[in-house]
Amino acid sequence: MYTQALNAAETQPETRSAEDAAMAARFQARIDAEQRIEPNDAMPEAYRRTLIRQISQHAHSEIVGMLPEGNWITRAPSLRRKAALLAKVQDEGGHGLYLYAAAETLGVAREALVEQLLRGEAKYSSIFNYPTLTWADIGVIGWLVDGAAIMNQIPLCRCSYGPYARAMIRICKEESFHQRQGFEIMLTLCRGSAAQKAMAQDALDRWWWPVLMMFGPPDPESRHGQQSSAWKIKRFSNDELRQKFIDATVPQAQFLGLAIPDPELRFDPAAGHWRTGPIDWAEFEAVLAGHGPCNRERLAARRRAHEEGAWVRDAARAHAEKQRRAKDLAA
Ligand SMILES: [Fe+2]
Ligand SMILES: [Fe+2]
Repeated sequence: MYTQALNAAETQPETRSAEDAAMAARFQARIDAEQRIEPNDAMPEAYRRTLIRQISQHAHSEIVGMLPEGNWITRAPSLRRKAALLAKVQDEGGHGLYLYAAAETLGVAREALVEQLLRGEAKYSSIFNYPTLTWADIGVIGWLVDGAAIMNQIPLCRCSYGPYARAMIRICKEESFHQRQGFEIMLTLCRGSAAQKAMAQDALDRWWWPVLMMFGPPDPESRHGQQSSAWKIKRFSNDELRQKFIDATVPQAQFLGLAIPDPELRFDPAAGHWRTGPIDWAEFEAVLAGHGPCNRERLAARRRAHEEGAWVRDAARAHAEKQRRAKDLAA
């Protein structure tokens, strides 16, 4: 995963002086011409800040996203499942690292971003604050959470900022493997015993609505949707992406023989879309505000990992210093 259109303090383009306005116009002309913006290019301060916020939230989501699934590595039902899950969780760690590196090209230090996360000031995707209660949750996470991530992230491969767009190309390839391994877990459970099928249905019941919330608030309430679209950071609105995801997923649930937990779900033949009942946005807001089932546990786990990793950072710094001194001596 996992970008999420999270509402935060809006950053408006700064066009206070005529010079700023001229620069903003030149910048917008480059964007309109589909030119990629690279780290050393001139860019409006608000564009830079918007990208730092989005890319760092995305990086944090990848790293926190390792926790719910890491919970099942020691309990995977077979060696094959364990190997696939280990590889997937490692991939998510790698996604976090590419993304912190992409954010650093905008002039912010990775340490500062990590500190923001550990202090509880940075946001990450709401979905990772839900618990993984059974093995079927690992299937649903791959199928739906990584599936939603792909919907969100494929358009980001064409994002106007070069380092972010390039990181997304590799990430999307790996997310596609994650999605398929999750669907295959679901297929196995759904073709298994009645108890296995019931476990798959229970996991879908618990994850369906939180997954729909991953696309962020509805368009009329999305505070920075418009500016991000004008800058070609975002290519589709939250509601457009959510609809694409629903249309792709409902037939997959039918193939599995699972029921989507929504009594109002119906196909709208005129529009050619599946329509869902209302989403409980109060739950989304509560989870974002830190009151989800696992918010405290997730941050505590990250803080503990950071403290336990201090010796690795110290050793890496000491090694780099030693190398630098050896080089100086040789020169
Ligand atoms: Fe990922
Ligand atoms: Fe993933």
